[in-house]
Amino acid sequence: MARPRRPRGLRARLTLWIAAILILAVAASFFAIYSGTGQQLRNQLDRDLETQAGAFSATLPGGDEGHGELAEIINRYVNNQPFRASSQLLFARLPDGRIVTNEPELLGLPGALDPERESAGAQQAENTDARTLRAAPLGFTTVQAADLGGLRVFVKQVVRHGHVVARVGVGEPLAPVTRAQHGVARTFLLAGLFALIAAALAGYVLASRVSSPLRRMAGTAAAVDAGDLSHRIGDTGSSEEIRVLAEAFDHMLDRLDDAFARQRAFVSDASHELRTPLTILRGQLEVLARQKDVTRDDVQRVTRLVSAETERMERLVDDLLLLAKTEEGSPLTRRTIELRDYMHDVFDAVSLTADRDFELGAVSDVSIEADPDRLAQVIHNLAQNSVAHTAEGGLVRLSAAANGRYVRFAVEDDGPGIPPDQRDRIFDRFHRTDISRARTTGGSGLGLAIARALVEAHGGRIRAGESPEGGARLEFDLPR
Ligand SMILES: Nc1ncnc2c1ncn2[C@@H]1O[C@H](COP(=O)(O)OP(=O)(O)OP(=O)(O)O)[C@@H](O)[C@H]1O
Ligand SMILES: [Mg+2]
Repeated sequence: MARPRRPRGLRARLTLWIAAILILAVAASFFAIYSGTGQQLRNQLDRDLETQAGAFSATLPGGDEGHGELAEIINRYVNNQPFRASSQLLFARLPDGRIVTNEPELLGLPGALDPERESAGAQQAENTDARTLRAAPLGFTTVQAADLGGLRVFVKQVVRHGHVVARVGVGEPLAPVTRAQHGVARTFLLAGLFALIAAALAGYVLASRVSSPLRRMAGTAAAVDAGDLSHRIGDTGSSEEIRVLAEAFDHMLDRLDDAFARQRAFVSDASHELRTPLTILRGQLEVLARQKDVTRDDVQRVTRLVSAETERMERLVDDLLLLAKTEEGSPLTRRTIELRDYMHDVFDAVSLTADRDFELGAVSDVSIEADPDRLAQVIHNLAQNSVAHTAEGGLVRLSAAANGRYVRFAVEDDGPGIPPDQRDRIFDRFHRTDISRARTTGGSGLGLAIARALVEAHGGRIRAGESPEGGARLEFDLPR
């Protein structure tokens, strides 16, 4: 058997919740007002009855009149107060059993009943009602009368000079109270129904407004899932929280888009860089294969070329792997480095690489926490660039000066320098300035990208500037 599906949408649920809460609130206030009104009206009625009974008993004389005279006085009083459904019933019962009332029919007095008008059943019912009424005890009672419905009765004893003169009773029908209660109920139900419809509509509209940006977000997420990163949620025009969420979502998409674009550029650049040596290799091998008489010299020439290109490819692949690992956040092996000794060792190693005027500038006598191999690699990369951009005998200067909370490493040369508009872009992968491309130094443009990734992994920053000699100055700060 299929279970009924529960509404899942935010709109439907919010509307239902609002309606349910309102129904509860209306029902509770209805109950309170309905029973409160009834109670208040009944209390008012009882107070009226007591006052009326007081006034009635006050008219009774206290002398030694005979029962006949007393009945006559009461009769005059009660007949001046005709009983209608909305006013009082008055009756008095004298000690001799005589009953005087303004409603003889109600009390079943002889002569009051009209046998021709009423059916036997009705007469019997009225007789029973009359008996109950006549036997009403002292104080308040509610009696059921056939035609009138509920009748509230108050009976009180009139005592004069220690003798019971009479029992007087006043009664009032409860129908007006019930009518008033029903009136309140009708008005309340009508107003409640109206409020319920209005609240449900308002809830629906509100929920639609809240959920529409969420639906848009879901749509955007689905588009992104399908591979389209160009979608954005944009201005939702709704509440603060939703706007913040939409902005965060768009920001995330911007970054994803950017990351994917960079990834694509990286892959295409990398394959382009690898294709060049591969093309050279294939060309050389094809030439060799087509040759009829291959001499030993030919083989040696091709072998030299092939191994040079293979070496280049190996370097490139190593660089790419290192870059990928560093950017992924591969852990560093930090150790305490005594800067002075360390920089002397690095300087010795660097100065053996080329025939340049290597110089060791200021080096502070401090210690820092860093990965010695990675740090040496950064300095080597920078020094290699300086070597590549200077002629024989050119200046290459290293320094490492402590400055407050960080150590500033610098590599300077007296080469052509880096044009200011290129100083940011040289750190991008495969980026080489036009001069470098023209000179075909053999570099692939990964050295500075690797240097930046390693410096940032250490929590530092790297930038390019100009040396005092007008050449390039590459400096980076590492926190101590
Ligand atoms: N000291 C320098 N003087 C002048 N230009 C420089 C200097 N250092 C870097 N550059 C410029 O920045 C570019 C990027 O340098 P990077 O070290 O990233 O690549 P590369 O040296 O060309 O190749 P690789 O280091 O991968 O062998 C260089 O091609 C060059 O144009
Ligand atoms: Mg380089």
